[in-house]
Amino acid sequence: MTDPMVMGSERSEVGLPAAMEILRSGGSALDAVEAALRRCEDNLEDHYVGSGGLPNARGEVELDASLMVGSSRAFGAVGALKGYPNPISVARAVLEKLPQHALLVGEGAALFAEECGFATAELLTEEAKRLWREALAPSSDSVEGENTSSSAGDDAYRVAALDLVRRLSPHDGPWGTINVLALDASGELVVGVSTSGYPYKYPGRVGDSAIAGAGNYCDLRYGGAACTGRGELSMRAIGARAVVERLALGDDPETACAAMLAEAAMLPDDFRAELRTLALTPDGRHGGAAGQAGSVYALMSVTSTEPEFYPRKVV
Ligand code: GLY
Repeated sequence: MTDPMVMGSERSEVGLPAAMEILRSGGSALDAVEAALRRCEDNLEDHYVGSGGLPNARGEVELDASLMVGSSRAFGAVGALKGYPNPISVARAVLEKLPQHALLVGEGAALFAEECGFATAELLTEEAKRLWREALAPSSDSVEGENTSSSAGDDAYRVAALDLVRRLSPHDGPWGTINVLALDASGELVVGVSTSGYPYKYPGRVGDSAIAGAGNYCDLRYGGAACTGRGELSMRAIGARAVVERLALGDDPETACAAMLAEAAMLPDDFRAELRTLALTPDGRHGGAAGQAGSVYALMSVTSTEPEFYPRKVV
């Protein structure tokens, strides 16, 4: 049996020590992944996940998250969830309490979160609101567009918002969705993904993080994989599943990740932004790939005192 380990994308290091504590004491990969991602979601300085995440074009924070269990390929996800700070826990509740379904979105996801007793919170921080207002850079008073009743103001607001969506491009610095993949002492492998999605996205847009096979896939026979970056590209390439298929054919994790990215790079996409991916096998092999130099992933084994960083293969 392989020793437990946990790995994650850029900025997951905020949560990995909590996950490793659980794994070291014999806890489950599901508990470890949820614990790690909750800490990331609660990190107000991270503007791409949970509370503090950048909002959609209307200034509303909408969150996507998913969990997939390798032994059963059970999947639970939420998309465009508003008002609940820990979407990964709501995704877990879908997985465990609503097994007849795999994905809830929008109002239905919020209703389910309420029925499960999750607490609501204001997710839009002052800092995220400031970044949103600056990014929209409206040319009229319609900056208050979320409340305006003037149709001219509404129109100007919509034009500004849609223009911004058209110009979507990667931000400076580490950005994007957070992936966490964990292997526990029983040999179970779980993949979790959480995100506030593309900043200033069209309201109701759900990305790959909530879609089985696209942003998240886990099959205990071969391994798990997850994606960050341009979700629409990952959906079109069925990115995470494509990585796992390559693991099944015998590729090592880094080669499998790089091959998927190379294939996705061939798709035409006027809004192209970087796509990145990670993979972990049931025997503890790990790897990642990215479209830009300098991308890393974080990993903790049972002997780690803190996350260690590994370079991703550049495609
Ligand atoms: N990969 C996250 C998203 O596109 O929302």
